Formats: sequence, C-alpha cells, structure tokens
Amino acid sequence: MSLKNKSIEHSRQNKSPNCSSQNPKKNQSDSSDIKQEQTNVVNRPLDIFPLLPLRDVVVFPYMLAPLLVGRKISINTVNEVWAGKSRKIVLLTQKNPSIESITPQNLYRVGTLGEIIQVVKMEEGYLKILVEGIKRVKIESFPDKKKKDEPIMISVSYREDVSRYKEGSSSVLPAADSSLSIAKEGLLVKQVKNEFKQYVQLNAKMSSPRAPLSGQGGTNYINSVQQIEQPDKLADIVCSYLPLKTQTKQQFLEIFSPYARLGKVWELLKAEIELIQVEEKIHGKVKDKIRKTQKEFYLQEQMKAIQKELGKEGDPDISALREKISKNAMPKEIKKRALNEVEKLSKMMSISPEATVVRNYVEWLVNMPWGKGTKDNLDTKRAEKILNEDHFGLEKVKERILEYLAVRKLVGNPKGPILCFAGPPGVGKTSIAKSIARALGRKFIRISLGGVRDEAEIRGHRRTYIGALPGKIIQSMHKAGSRNPIFLLDEVDKMSMDFRGDPSAALLEVLDPEQNTQFNDHYLDVDFDLSKVMFITTANTPYAIPHSLLDRMEIIDFDGYSEEEKKQIAVKFLIPKLQKAHGFKKNEISISNEALQKIIRYYTREAGVRSLERELSAVFRKMARKKVEANRKQKFVVNEKMVEKLLSPPKYHHLIAEEKDEIGVAVGLAVSETGGEILPIEATVMEGKGKLSLTGQLGEVMQESAQAGLSYIRSHKEKLNLKKDFYKDIDIHIHVPEGAIPKDGPSAGIAMVIAMASALAKKRVRKKVAMTGEITLRGKVLPVGGIKGKILAAYRDGIKNIILPKDNKKDLIGIPSYIKKNIDFFLVEDIGQVFEKVFVPLDIK
Ligand SMILES: Nc1ncnc2c1ncn2[C@@H]1O[C@H](COP(=O)(O)OP(=O)(O)OP(=O)(O)O)[C@@H](O)[C@H]1O
Ligand SMILES: [Mg+2]
Repeated sequence: MSLKNKSIEHSRQNKSPNCSSQNPKKNQSDSSDIKQEQTNVVNRPLDIFPLLPLRDVVVFPYMLAPLLVGRKISINTVNEVWAGKSRKIVLLTQKNPSIESITPQNLYRVGTLGEIIQVVKMEEGYLKILVEGIKRVKIESFPDKKKKDEPIMISVSYREDVSRYKEGSSSVLPAADSSLSIAKEGLLVKQVKNEFKQYVQLNAKMSSPRAPLSGQGGTNYINSVQQIEQPDKLADIVCSYLPLKTQTKQQFLEIFSPYARLGKVWELLKAEIELIQVEEKIHGKVKDKIRKTQKEFYLQEQMKAIQKELGKEGDPDISALREKISKNAMPKEIKKRALNEVEKLSKMMSISPEATVVRNYVEWLVNMPWGKGTKDNLDTKRAEKILNEDHFGLEKVKERILEYLAVRKLVGNPKGPILCFAGPPGVGKTSIAKSIARALGRKFIRISLGGVRDEAEIRGHRRTYIGALPGKIIQSMHKAGSRNPIFLLDEVDKMSMDFRGDPSAALLEVLDPEQNTQFNDHYLDVDFDLSKVMFITTANTPYAIPHSLLDRMEIIDFDGYSEEEKKQIAVKFLIPKLQKAHGFKKNEISISNEALQKIIRYYTREAGVRSLERELSAVFRKMARKKVEANRKQKFVVNEKMVEKLLSPPKYHHLIAEEKDEIGVAVGLAVSETGGEILPIEATVMEGKGKLSLTGQLGEVMQESAQAGLSYIRSHKEKLNLKKDFYKDIDIHIHVPEGAIPKDGPSAGIAMVIAMASALAKKRVRKKVAMTGEITLRGKVLPVGGIKGKILAAYRDGIKNIILPKDNKKDLIGIPSYIKKNIDFFLVEDIGQVFEKVFVPLDIK
C-alpha cells in the first residue's frame, strides 16, 4: 500500500460521516478549548496522514522527540512512512497508555503533525525514531475498517488561530485588536521568559525529577528561549521542558489560541517554581539534619578512638553505674531496665542533654530503697513508754498504736485500714505520728497535701517532659531511704481537684493495700512496692476528705484539750522543752500555776496548744533577756502579775459565763475547723411589719433554722405569754457576732429560738447556760455533731450548764470526768424543756 496525502475540501458544519467517535458528548469535552475559539479559527482542507499512537508522551510542535516504537502496527507505519516521500505522521497520545490495541475511544482528539527525521533499527526489533513536531491537528475521522497491523490513515484538520499571530509573522492583525492587547501580549512573552529563566536557574541547584533542566546547559536553555519571539512557539517550547503529567500536557496541546496557551504556560511555570522552592526548602532541612547527625557520629567515634588510645575504654562513670546496678537489691526486671538505660547512655555524648536525662533516671532507679528497710521494734511496753514520754493524754491514739504493734507481732504485715488523725490545729496530730515512728524504730517522712491539685504532684511527670521528676510519694520514699517508713500525709482534707487530674485518685492507689504493692510513678515508670509503708493521714475536718479515700481510713478523733489538760501538757512537755531551747537550767526558772492559767485563759483561745506554746516561748524569750542582763545568778519565777508585763495586755478579755444575764442573748455552741466555739446569738425586737432579718454571714441552713424557730414561737405564743398577732407590728433582727466569719449549720437552732423568745417575752437568759441542737417546726430538738469539741469550748469559757439534744447522750461517754464534775448536762427532746431551763430565775447553779 502506498501512502499519498489527499486534500479534501471540508466544511465545519459538514462533519465527516466516518468519524468513529461513539460518544459525541465526550468528544465535545475533549476539545472544549477549540470550541471557544471557533470565531477566530480558519477552516482548512482536510488532510489524511498515517497515525502513530503514543503511550505516555505528548509531542508539541517545534519539539524534537526521540521515540521508541515497539508495537507491530506502529513499526509497520514508521517503516512505510520512512520509505515514502513525505515522512509526515500524526502523533496522537493514548488516553490509557496500558491498552495495547488502538481504538478511537482510547485516543485524544487533538495531536501533532510531525515529521520523522531519523529511524534507527534496534537489535530487539524495536525502532528508535526522532520526530519533529510541526503543528497541531484536530482528528476529523478514523477509518471504519482496517486490516490487522496495517497503518491507520486518519483525516485531520489544521486549526490555526489568526486573531493575533500567524505562524512566522506578526503582520496579520485583525482590525479589532487594540494596542492595549498587543502590549499585554508582549508583557506576557517577557514574563514567561523571565519565569523560565528563574525556573532553569532553580533547576541548576536541584537534582530531582522536578528539575529536569538541572546540571550543565542551563544557559543554553535560557538563551534559546530568550530568542523566541512568537508567543505560540514560546509557549510550546517552554511547556515541553516542564515535567508535567501527560494529561496536563494534552490539555495544553488542546489550547489553540497562542495567547491563551502562553497564559497557561505562565501559570504552569509559576506553579513549578513554587514546587521547586518548597522542595528545595525541605531538601535543605533534611540535608542539615543529616549533616548534624553525621557530625555527631563522627565526633563520637573519634572520642571513642581517643579513649581507646588513652587506654580508657568505656566511661568510668558508666562502669560505676553498671556496678552500682548489679550490686543493687532491685527486682530483676528493673535491674534489666536500668542496665538497658546505661547501655543507651554509653552511646551518647556525655554532655548532651539526653544523656543527662537518662543518667538522672538511672540514678533515681538505683537510689530507691528497693531492699532497704528498718527492723520494727515490736516491744509494746517500750513503745508505750515512748509514746507517753512524748505526749500527754491522747489515750485513744496510743491504744490504737499499741494494738497495731501487737497484731504486727502476730501476723507480720497486717493490711489494716489507714489511720486518719482528725482534729483541730495544734492538738498533736503531726507530733504523735513522729513519736510513733520513734516507738517503732522506723524512719519518718511527711508530705503536705494542702493545696495539691495536680495528679502529677503525687505521681510525677512522664520522662518526656522537660525537667520531669518523680511525684511526692516516690521523692519522699527516696528521701526516707527505707521501704517501710512511717509516711504522714498531712492535710488530706485540703486537697483539691481541677483539670489537671484528680490527686485523690492517685492517692487512692497509694493507700489501697490491694494496689500499693505496684505503685507506678509516671517518671520512674516501674512498679514500686509501698505495702510495707505505714501510712498515717491527718485532717482538720474529716468530712472534707474525698469519700473514696475516707472509706479506706479509720478516723481517730483528736477533740482538743481542756484547760486542765493544757496545763499538764505545758508543765510536762512544753515548758521543759522551751526551757532547754532558751538556755535555762532545770530549776533555774519556774512558771506559777496561776500565771500559766492566765496565759491559757486570756492569751489563747484554741483547741490545741500551738498558741500556748507560742506565748510561752515569748515568755521565755523575755526571761532569757532578763537572765543575760542580770549580773548575778538567780532563780527566775514568772507569776501571774508578770504575765501582763511580759506579754502585753490580755488578748481575750472575759469569759462569757462571767458576763451579766441579759435579754435577747443566748449562748450557742458551734464547731469549726479550729475546734469547738462559744457562739453568742443576739436578737432584738423593734417596730415594724413582721419582718425577720438575719446578719453575721449566716448560711442558708442557719437562716432556715431561724425561720423555723420563729414559726414555732408564733404557733406557741401562749407559752411565752405573747399577745395574739404580736408579730404584726414588729420586726425581729438576729445577729451572730464575729460577723466577718461565715457560719452555717442547723446546730444553733435552739439558741436562736431562745434569743428570739427572750427578746419577745422580755425575759433574761442565764449566761452560764450554753446550748446546741437543731429545731423542727413542731419544736422537737434533734441531735447535732461535734459535741466533744463544743463541751471543751464551753468548759473553757466557764459555762456551768449545757443543754444537749437527748439523742446526743452517747457522746457524753468520752467526756473527761473532771468536766462532768463541773458541768451539768440537760438532755432535752422538746424546746419547751429548754424554756424551762434557760430563763432567770433558775433552779440551777
Ligand atoms: N498531747 C500532747 N502532749 C505533748 N505535746 C503536745 C500534745 N499535743 C500537742 N503537742 C504539741 O503541740 C505542738 C503542735 O502539735 P502538732 O504540730 O502535732 O499539731 P497538729 O495537730 O499536727 O496541728 P495541725 O493540724 O495544725 O497540723 C507540738 O509542739 C506538739 O508537740
Ligand atoms: Mg500537723
């Protein structure tokens, strides 16, 4: 078969009937760019050329492309064209390169007419050819039928845009073109050239597939492109240099307008430049990192070599650490862990921050008291002696400790509940815990949980944190240097919780005997056995302890001391201690009983003995000065009179029981964090409209209690001889002094009723009577808490009679007998019984 180019007159409307496209819609979208340009397109005659399908390449006009021809049909086509005269061929790209057979559906509709310049036969039967792109062509039709492996002849039309440029000349200008658009196009040509220059220069720095123009020859590319003036040639050539996807290249090929094409190539260039810049940045960073690691590695190797030369193979610190670990009594798997860490350490630069972190960690592991512990002294007689030596009273606590020792002696390590010493400040909670440690012969450690709100404070931070350390538990165990210390957790009731986690949850793990054999600190990251530790907790108000923790505790109440007890504590413990601390010999100074009583009564008002100790210490300081200034040896006596001189005027002036009986004041009893307190309650009646007002920072419960009390009085007015509607033209005001301190709770109920009743009925109330109890609307008196503390406070203030709810009778059991001797207790069920006892005249002391 011979090939002959045939020209057929073709009109656009009269589309060739043998166009094999099955899907006209698809065809349309393939050549959408062409459609837009129809107005500027000049119809050309159809030509017929043989087809060379391309798999993964798009050849542009002006482009010299080497191609490898392997398909039988293509080899035949090339051979025939090469043998003929014209050597022209249509280069058409396949939509799907992996399909072997050639079908119109798998070919794009726009291709390039090219000329074969060279054909080289390869050994494997392939042909290597060089083609030059000439111009864009649009495929008009494929042959209907063809013989197998015979060249496919397709008819094409040339589609040239003549709106601005004609190939090789710029003289054909449509009249409509303005000088503005010419200027714009010129500018675009310039911009594309500039961008291309930048692109080639960037390529030169890179060696990646994104930069095909890298290496030598960059200037050649730039120069050849700089010389091109026709925009359409410029666009095609620049685009052929860009590493674009076949599909993108095909899209570009399908743009017939040179101006649009130039615009597109400018866009593509810019995108490529941006990509290269990003790639270069990343590349640079990676390179820097590699360089740094290589440098470190090199230096480390050199250091090792130097050490070897000096005969010091291996860091002596590291060998010492290894030895420490192997001698340590830590569990096997932890030993393994520690040795692994040391191994890591030996490979690090000793001055690097990572090495410091690892070394610190290993030190922590090694220095934990894994096997170390003290032997308990289980002699109960001796322990009892020590406990009595250090503290007066506190019988219940001492008894509980001795029981613990006895069980310990019989069982080994009893899993009893955690002891919680609860009571007001200064009653000896912390100091008796210390004394327990002394009695048992254990180490003593203490942490304060007041204000702890972060779980990490208990359990530590993970090692990944900068500056991470173990939590308070592990730090203290480390400090104790023993695995079985007495561990005092002070102020468990003062812990709080926020977004950083719940410290009480961590504490639960510490205190629960089922879990604390494997306490896991975040920093240490290995289990530590806390089961041998004897935990003791302290709290001022046990009801503020999180419930789950409270559940595991045995509360031991420290109620506070009476005046008598305080005197004893002062004489037996505080004075001898202070005497020694201030440089007085044994019989060199004495404080009279009256002086001591005065200090306790008029200079302190507390449940414990901390203020007492402080005041006594002030006395000793002043006496020390006297001793220094005295010019001869003498015996010092502090008597009642001297107290005022030494300590300035009394801080608390009078005892409430010593005040005159008055109308509208009842003595209530309250209990707070600092122990029991006397709470005088005042009521006054004035003209008004039946309003009840309450002041003195009273909480809701207390206010409701006052309302209930008033309602009771109104419904039982005859008991107080009050007239009908007595409340209509009066207002009642209740005030609880020390107004700055918030108060709440129902236990002042009966005292408020008495204060109001007294004010309304104009009856005086005895000051020597104190009362506590909740009131109901029907006048019933309900039991309340904190009885012992309240009684101690009443006793302190010289109260002689206390009215208590009947159901609180059980609370009187633990009251010391000297208090019972001095105070009469009245147990009541009904407010009517209270009325009988409080108003003057009374048949009581
Ligand atoms: N029964 C006692 N016998 C001897 N000294 C006592 C007694 N009770 C308290 N003390 C002394 O009182 C001082 C205060 O006691 P401690 O610090 O133990 O109080 P605390 O109950 O722990 O108070 P806080 O709740 O404020 O921590 C200590 O010097 C302690 O020795
Ligand atoms: Mg304490």
